[in-house]
Amino acid sequence: MPALTDPLLYSAGDPHEVWRRLREDSPVSWHEYGEHGGYWAVTTHAAGLEVLTEWERFTSTKGIFLRPNFKDPYPGAGTMMALSDPPRHDLLRKAIMGLFTARAVSKMEERTRGVVKSALQGVVEAGRCDFVKDIAARIPLAVSAELLSISMDDVEMLAKVTTEAAENSTDIEGVEAQQAHVEILRHYSEIITEKRRNPGQDLVSALTRAQAEGLDISDDEVILTCDNVIVAANETTRQAVGAGMLALLESPEQWQALRAGELRLKTAAEEFLRWTAPVTHILRTAQHDTVLEGVQIRAGDAVTVWLPSLNRDEKVFDRPERFLLDRTPNHHVSFGGGGHFCIGANLARLTIRVMLDELARLPAEIEVSGEPRRIASYILGGLTSLPLEFRPR
Ligand code: HEM
Repeated sequence: MPALTDPLLYSAGDPHEVWRRLREDSPVSWHEYGEHGGYWAVTTHAAGLEVLTEWERFTSTKGIFLRPNFKDPYPGAGTMMALSDPPRHDLLRKAIMGLFTARAVSKMEERTRGVVKSALQGVVEAGRCDFVKDIAARIPLAVSAELLSISMDDVEMLAKVTTEAAENSTDIEGVEAQQAHVEILRHYSEIITEKRRNPGQDLVSALTRAQAEGLDISDDEVILTCDNVIVAANETTRQAVGAGMLALLESPEQWQALRAGELRLKTAAEEFLRWTAPVTHILRTAQHDTVLEGVQIRAGDAVTVWLPSLNRDEKVFDRPERFLLDRTPNHHVSFGGGGHFCIGANLARLTIRVMLDELARLPAEIEVSGEPRRIASYILGGLTSLPLEFRPR
C-alpha cells in the first residue's frame, strides 16, 4: 500500500482507494514516518471526530500538520490560535470571532459577488483560462482584502508572494519561499502601525484592540495570526472552488441541474466542500495514554485525521463515491470539528455559493481544454491547474 505521506499518491495515485481499505481493515492504523518513528492514521468519521473534539486527550499545541521532524518544537506552538488549547485558544478566538459571524459575513456578499462576476466576465471574453489561477485563486483574495480592510492592490501583492511561498513550499527550506514570507510579514507590520492609528472593523484592529485590553499577544503573534488566517482562507477556498469545478464539469447532469436552477445553492456548496475536502489531514498529539477504537495510543503519539476519508465514510454517507449536489443530510468534516472548527466556514460557504450562482448564469459553454494537474501534497488537496475553454451560447 502506498504511504499516506507520499506526495505522489495525491498527484498521480488514488488516495481514496487507500483510505477505503484503511476504513475497512483498520480505522486507526500505525504508519512509519520521519525521524521520530511514525504516526497513527484515523480514517473513519466517528473516530476522527473523537480526536478533533476532545482536546483534553488530543492537543493542538504540538502542531497541526505532520512534518518529518514533527516532535521538534513547532514555531508558535502553544501560543498561536490554531496551535493552542483552551483557555488560551478561547481567548484568541473570541478576540476575532466578531468578524466571522453569519451577520458580519453577509455584509461581504456584495463585494464578493462583484469580484466573481468581473473575474468570470474577463475569462469569458478571453475565451479560455486556467480556472485555478485566474478564478479560484483570485476570489478568496477579495475576501482577504475585506478582512484586513486593505486595498485590492495590496492584497494582490500579498497573494503573489503568498503563492510564491506556497509554490516553493515543497522545498520547505527553500530560500525563495522564505524571502517571500519575510516580505509578507514586513507588510503586515506596516498594516499594524496604520491600524493602531486608525482602527476599523478588521482583523488587525480586532487583535490590537484585544492586545490593548490585556490579551497576552505580541506584535509578532498578531502578524503571524493574520498571516495564518489569510493563508488558511486563500489556499483552501481556492482548492474547494477549483477541484469542485472539475467535479462539476465531469458530472454533466449535475451541471445541467445547476444551470436549470433545480438545486439549492447552499446544499450544492456543501457537496463541493465534502467532495473536495481541501485540508487532507490534521494532526493532534495524545496528551496521555488513551484508547481509540480499541487501539492503545501512548502519551506523545502523533494522531492524524484524514478528512477526505471521513467524508467518504460508508457508515455516514449514502453512495459516498458520488458527487451529488442535492445531498442531504451532509455531515462532512471539511471544516474540521470541535473547538478549532474553521472560523472562516461562513465566509468559505458564501464564496462557493456566490461562485455557483454566477457560474450557473454564465452565458457560455464551458469545457475542460487540457490536462488538470493535481497538487503533490499530503496537507492540501486539489489542483494546480485546470485549463478551460469558454464559448458564448
Ligand atoms: C473551503 C475553505 C476552507 C476549508 C476547507 C477550511 C478548513 C479548515 C479546517 C479543517 C480547520 C481546522 C483545523 C484544526 O482543527 O486544527 C480550519 C481552521 C481554521 N480556518 Fe479554515 N478552512 C477554509 C476557509 C477558511 C477561511 C475563508 C478562513 C478565514 C477567512 C479560514 C480560517 C481558519 C482559521 C483561522 C482556523 C483556525 C481556527 C482555530 O484554531 O480555532 N478558513 N479550517
